Amino acid sequence: MREKKNGLNNRPIGIFDSGIGGLTVLKEIRRMLPNEDLIYFGDTARVPYGTKSPLAVKKFASEISVWFKSLNVKAIVVACNTVSAIALKEVEKFSKVPVIGVIKPGAIESAGAAVSGNISVIGTTAMVNSKAYEKELKRINPSFKVFQKACPLFVPLVEEGWSDKKIADEIIYEYLFELKEKKRGVLILGCTHYPMLKKKISSFLSGYKIIDSAESVAKFLKEDLYAKGILSRKKKGKEIFVVSDAPDKFKYLARKLLGLNIKSVRLKRF
Ligand code: DGL
Repeated sequence: MREKKNGLNNRPIGIFDSGIGGLTVLKEIRRMLPNEDLIYFGDTARVPYGTKSPLAVKKFASEISVWFKSLNVKAIVVACNTVSAIALKEVEKFSKVPVIGVIKPGAIESAGAAVSGNISVIGTTAMVNSKAYEKELKRINPSFKVFQKACPLFVPLVEEGWSDKKIADEIIYEYLFELKEKKRGVLILGCTHYPMLKKKISSFLSGYKIIDSAESVAKFLKEDLYAKGILSRKKKGKEIFVVSDAPDKFKYLARKLLGLNIKSVRLKRF
């Protein structure tokens, strides 16, 4: 059994996203690591990230990392594909703690499931432009055929709480119709907001194996903390939720879309 290392064990893990999307990752982390203290930050004042320039996303990620550092986190999970694709280095540089992004675990899981070699990736415009999944997948197997499609309206749709409305079907049709024509294979939900549209996407694109990286990210994190000897020794972990704007809306959406009953949400402005 590994022993205590510099008293890091019981420090919290920082998790962040532009909004509520990263809660899909937090849920898996909580399931797999019930003893850890978690601090979740949703940058609701600046959501969406995926339509912004890489420079802007890097600035947001740096600010959040410096703040997490001041909270003494022992690790950071970047529960946002856009930041993971564009600004992982900034997070590492400014936080100086282990950083887990969502792209690598998602790519590894998808590569394992891609029997036919056909992999489609949907995500924000910034994430798709970065080609982060394509690069990661081709590193694993250069013969993979990767198709990417940006779906910029999906994030505002989810943040508006409209993922179950009829308009969601129309937007899904517009973006994903061409995928119906393609050879079926794996479809990566390359944005942490998209699992909230998963039911509708999978019924529209039946025949695809749909992957979101939340579970593999949680597994990656657990293995990393174990390897570093810094798993928590607490009996039960706590959660703190912080947003940069509209805490009541965040609380409402977390309950409506993810069934999370969050008691209080704090405010942090940058
Ligand atoms: N959940 C973020 C992601 O995974 C959403 C990005 C956005 O805010 O546009 O990319």
